[in-house]
Amino acid sequence: MRGRDLVAGERLSSVFVPEVVHTMGSEQTQTVLAAHGLTKEYAPGRAAIAEVTLRFGRGDFVAVIGPSGAGKSTLLRCLNLLIRPTRGRVELLDRDITESSGGRLREVRGQVGMVFQGFNLVRRLSVLENVLAGRLRFARGPVRRFAGVLRLFPRSEREIAFACLEKVGIAEQAFKRADQLSGGQQQRVAIARVLAQEPRVILADEPIASLDPESARGVMRTLRAIHDTKGIPVIVNLHQVDVAREFGSRIVGMNAGRVCVDAAVDRVTAEDVERVYTRGASGTGEPRGDSAEPRLVSTGGAGGADGTGGKTEAVQRVAMAGGGRS
Ligand SMILES: Nc1ncnc2c1ncn2[C@@H]1O[C@H](COP(=O)(O)OP(=O)(O)OP(=O)(O)O)[C@@H](O)[C@H]1O
Ligand SMILES: [Mg+2]
Repeated sequence: MRGRDLVAGERLSSVFVPEVVHTMGSEQTQTVLAAHGLTKEYAPGRAAIAEVTLRFGRGDFVAVIGPSGAGKSTLLRCLNLLIRPTRGRVELLDRDITESSGGRLREVRGQVGMVFQGFNLVRRLSVLENVLAGRLRFARGPVRRFAGVLRLFPRSEREIAFACLEKVGIAEQAFKRADQLSGGQQQRVAIARVLAQEPRVILADEPIASLDPESARGVMRTLRAIHDTKGIPVIVNLHQVDVAREFGSRIVGMNAGRVCVDAAVDRVTAEDVERVYTRGASGTGEPRGDSAEPRLVSTGGAGGADGTGGKTEAVQRVAMAGGGRS
């Protein structure tokens, strides 16, 4: 099936229009997803995230950085209600969704798309079938229950799935089994599946952590292009500060469960980055046994630094990586 065969059809237009939305002023800043005083205690009195308040608008491509255990995954999982916050609330399009359950919870999970480090594809199914899984939330009645099992997706749905694969650049792989693809290709399938959900916001938890640098950049470019053309917020947990600087429009730094940096990418200084990766920098939270050092910066920017005496080598590498958007 060729791309030009796919441009007609009502459902298709619902996926790809509004596309190239050059949103103006207030629309850009309109809050799509918000956390208010979000706190998660896996064990009583030990907050994995504490009092996190953040707003995400359509203009945001947010890179969340922070040392291992800072609470990045916990934040994303609370935002799409994979786990319930202990206190605080989550709002989607100005509606409090914190207590959603049943059909409303499924609807929320559909609107808040999630991409994981491990792709979470059904390995023995085809690429196309994996993407069609993203369409199940639009099915009704028995189709909803059996379409996935019996592979009963109407042509219009298959066209949408194809279009999503084209969007991430791997439509030609549609009939391969998912486990025959490379890691980078599998992550693109996962992104196509999220696109097929027609989400209002996309969350990605270390989507490039298991990819080689070239595939990683390809996946980041894909996420950024989706953000730019569809005008939806994308929030990505990352360990690579240089990648965060290159692709993000905004950086949120977490340390010991608290937000300690939140700024437009070109306003984030080397000192800010150092603070994010300094143990106990937030002045709160439990002391952690594991290292606060970041994983290595993936590309570029590393090297000796002047005027950074007293810092660990890893912190120097991170602090000096990038220096503004290229
Ligand atoms: N299911 C869980 N049960 C208990 N404690 C947990 C659970 N998940 C995470 N934690 C704890 O919550 C804190 C935050 O963990 P989280 O996974 O959110 O950090 P992270 O910033 O995503 O780390 P990483 O960069 O290693 O992925 C850590 O102290 C972690 O040990
Ligand atoms: Mg994590």
